[in-house]
Amino acid sequence: MKIIKAKDYDDMSKIAAQIIGAQITLKPDCVLGLATGSTPIGTYSMLADWCSKGYLDFASVTTFNLDEYLGLDPQHDQSYRHYMNSNLFNKINIKIENTNVPNGKAVDVDKECMAYENKIEGLDGITLQLLGIGNNGHIGFNEPDDSFSKSTHCVRLADNTIEANARFFDSIDMVPKKAITMGIGTIMKAKKAILIANGEGKREILKKSLFGPITPRVPASILQLHPDLTVITDNSL
Ligand code: F6R
Repeated sequence: MKIIKAKDYDDMSKIAAQIIGAQITLKPDCVLGLATGSTPIGTYSMLADWCSKGYLDFASVTTFNLDEYLGLDPQHDQSYRHYMNSNLFNKINIKIENTNVPNGKAVDVDKECMAYENKIEGLDGITLQLLGIGNNGHIGFNEPDDSFSKSTHCVRLADNTIEANARFFDSIDMVPKKAITMGIGTIMKAKKAILIANGEGKREILKKSLFGPITPRVPASILQLHPDLTVITDNSL
């Protein structure tokens, strides 16, 4: 594990964008795993800026997002498809058909999860996975549990995740209670992973995840076993 201490949020975002940019330059047809939430917004903004200036070419890149709320239409302004289109995909030269976000309106959710997992495997897996971390240690929407999940599946969101994400909705009651998420196994199979986390509020859970016992009660703790993990944070750990 490599830990990079960033000066602040912008510095963290720039370092993450530089690593992703380098990956795209090295392997133009790479497969990126992407996260949503507040943390990656600065990273996406830098990638979009560099693409608009002609420094980066997303024409052959494929992406898979970690998760999507169950029940939200892709057009819903809080769906992760909408977030990705507005924060990144609509601002870069990626082919929209090469961008994948689980379908939150799938009729057969198990089939959707299996198809998502198979599509990732069919492309020889994820080259580089970008991750954020929840206050409870979740990655993707893999909440604290009795065991580590393997592949893409449907989850019930933890109460503290619903509370944390209520800031994006008109009221807490509007936050979906379930989601589709890549499994811990899917994430761990990525060839490289970058974990970004900023702010004092993430310091304790980062320390617990990176230096504490490896346990499904702290899902991100499994990242200690990832063969190529880079953590970028403005926190002193
Ligand atoms: C979302 C995701 C989540 C977030 C986490 C942190 O796609 O993967 O694990 O990374 O909830 O969210 P923020 O960045 O809003 O603190």
